[in-house]
Amino acid sequence: MFVSDCLSVNEKGHLTIGGVDTVELAATYGTPCYVVDEDKIRENCRAYVKSIEDNYAGNGLAIYASKAFNCKAMCKIVNEEKMGLDVVSGGELYTAISAGFPTDKIFFHGNNKTLDELEFAVRENVGRIVVDNMYELENVNREAKKQGKTVNVILRIKPGIDAHTHSFIMTGQIDSKFGFALETGEAMQGIKAAIAAENICLKGVHCHIGSQIFEVMPFEHAAEVMVKFMADIKAETGAELDELDLGGGFGIKYSDADKPLEYSEYMATVAGVLKSACEKYGVKTPFVIIEPGRSIAGSAGITLYTVGAVKEIPGVRNYVSIDGGMGDNPRYILYQATYEMVCANKADKAKDYKITLAGRCCESGDLIQENAMIQRVEPGDIVAVFSTGAYNYSMSSNYNRIPKPPVVMVSGGKARVVVKRETYEDIIRNDV
Ligand code: LLP
Repeated sequence: MFVSDCLSVNEKGHLTIGGVDTVELAATYGTPCYVVDEDKIRENCRAYVKSIEDNYAGNGLAIYASKAFNCKAMCKIVNEEKMGLDVVSGGELYTAISAGFPTDKIFFHGNNKTLDELEFAVRENVGRIVVDNMYELENVNREAKKQGKTVNVILRIKPGIDAHTHSFIMTGQIDSKFGFALETGEAMQGIKAAIAAENICLKGVHCHIGSQIFEVMPFEHAAEVMVKFMADIKAETGAELDELDLGGGFGIKYSDADKPLEYSEYMATVAGVLKSACEKYGVKTPFVIIEPGRSIAGSAGITLYTVGAVKEIPGVRNYVSIDGGMGDNPRYILYQATYEMVCANKADKAKDYKITLAGRCCESGDLIQENAMIQRVEPGDIVAVFSTGAYNYSMSSNYNRIPKPPVVMVSGGKARVVVKRETYEDIIRNDV
């Protein structure tokens, strides 16, 4: 009935998430409010952990790409579920460390890590630094030397694959700011430099071809290209690398038009291709890392808003304004992302009203969705927008000096705040 199976409707006709009444959540915690279903997140984590067991006999690691949704509570959950963590900034790393995440299971990504961030990461002994470019390789080596350490490194490679997704979230093709290019020989140069670097231990290679991908083919292709590259490395340098990180990018359901495969199916198919490529090219099956982000958190989250002004412009459109917008969800203005929604307090009624859900920022493009179907809403109603668990809170801003909403987690029918609502005092805390 809904895009995620953690959503339902109770006897009052109210939308529920994880069995909790969202109208009550809105009354208790206020709106706008992000709500995430912890049990759903754990279920998603377990599916990936199991896929490593099933397809690679445990010779691998599923790491959560925390850019999708990061806070201390989330880091704790991911750790309890025995996953590793992908961080892309000092801030994400700091959050993880504050939550007690074991640093040896942290992978530090990013195409332009600052020197301060590298110093921090080396000092904290992060498990792997995923090096993006030659300049960074030199910086990592220098920092490791300064601290008298040897740093475990993986090199990010652009495998030259066009995955069919929004151009802003495509990363595997040659025209991308991420990683060493394969076609130009830059990747092999990087490998040789990493092997030669005194304070670096080269563990493996990484690729990430994009995000919100529904086809399996680009993942299969990437696995094959990467294994072939590992064979080329062996032939050219004699080094047989242990690790292959295949990135994340598995699509989720934002609307009924989206048809994601079961993740176990992606994993099994890619593992099959990977193993036969290893045989074909004569390399041992590597330790495999995957980095799901959106598919862990996305469908587990919703955002609750209160309806304010309703502006019906005959023959044009019906604007329904809410108490949030691009500050808490910039994905429509950025990517024209699709979202489904319901009126949480009328969830059992038919969706027969076509609206544009508008935010409250001084910006015409501040919309959450255009031409969306919803129940007939009026001021004071609660609107729930679905599939906002990933890349919403993590991409939120304080535009117009609007405080960020809280994050409420539900589990076992109970709710708790894991990120507090910002206050006006928070808004001016760094002003001098
Ligand atoms: N690994 C690397 C190296 C990545 O760059 C990303 C995402 C992931 C893993 C996780 O990908 P996922 O499984 O979440 O697709 N803000 C955009 C998405 C940007 C994705 C950036 N990298 C959006 O809202 O659609």
